[in-house]
Amino acid sequence: MEISIVGSGYVGLVTGACFAEVGHDVICVDNDDRKVKTLQSGIIPIYEPGLEELVHRNVAARRLRFTNSIEDGVSNSQVIFIAVPTPPHSDGSVDLTYIERVAREIANVLKSYRVIVDKSTVPVKTGQKVADTIRRYNKIGVEFDVVSNPEFLREGCAVEDLMHPDRVVIGTNSERALALMRTIYEPFMAPVMVTDVNSAELIKHAANSFLALKISYINAVSVICEATGADVEKVAAGIGADKRIGRSFLNAGLGYGGSCFPKDIAAFIAISEQLGTPFNLLKEVQRINQRQLERFVKKLRDTLWVLKDKRLAVWGLTFKPDTDDVRNSVAVDLVNELCREGAHVTAYDPKGMAKIRELKLCPDARLVSSPIEAVRDAEALIIATEWPQFENTDFSEIKRLMQTPLIFDGRNLLDPKTMTEFGFQYYGIGRGLPAA
Ligand code: UGA
Repeated sequence: MEISIVGSGYVGLVTGACFAEVGHDVICVDNDDRKVKTLQSGIIPIYEPGLEELVHRNVAARRLRFTNSIEDGVSNSQVIFIAVPTPPHSDGSVDLTYIERVAREIANVLKSYRVIVDKSTVPVKTGQKVADTIRRYNKIGVEFDVVSNPEFLREGCAVEDLMHPDRVVIGTNSERALALMRTIYEPFMAPVMVTDVNSAELIKHAANSFLALKISYINAVSVICEATGADVEKVAAGIGADKRIGRSFLNAGLGYGGSCFPKDIAAFIAISEQLGTPFNLLKEVQRINQRQLERFVKKLRDTLWVLKDKRLAVWGLTFKPDTDDVRNSVAVDLVNELCREGAHVTAYDPKGMAKIRELKLCPDARLVSSPIEAVRDAEALIIATEWPQFENTDFSEIKRLMQTPLIFDGRNLLDPKTMTEFGFQYYGIGRGLPAA
């Protein structure tokens, strides 16, 4: 199949590379000339395990190329995917400016039947608006179909998620479009679920909101664990063993961040309110998430007494491990809150340092190039992102370098017993220790 993908961000780029990998001819279109040139020169602007090899291999095989011309993409492909950002307005509702613009641009260059697929996360009924827009701007009345095909990939394992999806959701009422979509996804050998466009759009917001709900649920349970001396890790294992619940997304911690959950939950709330059917449960999901960070800072304050002038080491700045993405990271919020309270923060992240510096996200923290350097003379070590390599650090060396052996593990990465044996005072999230 000949496919073009408009938007070369996380979703667009990984989707394009994976489609090429299974044998399709893919054109990635982006209106950012600098990004297109970077990609054409073989540099991948984001860190995502496996992506660089995938892009290089498929570019070399001439199955993947990059352009800034939407006309090139539309005229040389049967199916056009839209994968542009859908950022939030200040009230949480979704800004659909980019989607609308791409719809107009496609309409202007559309000369024969094409399938236009929305992959971006959009409010229910956006597909109808995209179709109306294309119809309005296309002067020659070309036939086309608009399909919703939400993406469920997670950053950090995006290639794996795309190559082996749990399910592929295709929202369309057109048999012609469905046949083309099935051909695209056939090589992935995943279960295909066909729905109408509105249901497919809703599946995405409902799925992300449910996952965020699971996280807030276990975080709320972690508060009760701290009040009673129970261990949230054991509770999560116990409830997660029930197949109806499942263990995934029950990791208590500092709460969810990133460029999807906070935005999508706010969007789903806004959508429900616009429809006159407010989804208040999701407001509590947001509140619990926000309180996790506040509670963690309080725990630090309660133990260290005064945060001003304290030397604090923070490990982890990305919004989750295995990515260099620092957008909407709870770890970044934490560092900035500690700096605001006058603490001297020294921070380290295995992959996120370049982006933190480039975006100037932690202006008052000292950024260092190793976890060891971060803890020198520190009065407490804080784990803000659960990078697995942190577990394998030499903790006797860490203890020797620190002024006072305190660990605040915001992601329950470390084993409390082992840390106590090393001589640390260890505080996790909901791990048997009553709140101070
Ligand atoms: C999320 C969804 O998992 C994907 O299915 C979806 O496609 C994507 O959003 C999207 O809408 O594009 P992502 O944001 O990349 O993916 O990362 P997640 O692994 O879901 O993590 C999100 C946040 O939740 C992170 O801050 C993570 O630390 C936090 N989290 C996750 C927890 O606090 N506890 C958990 O048990 C799981």
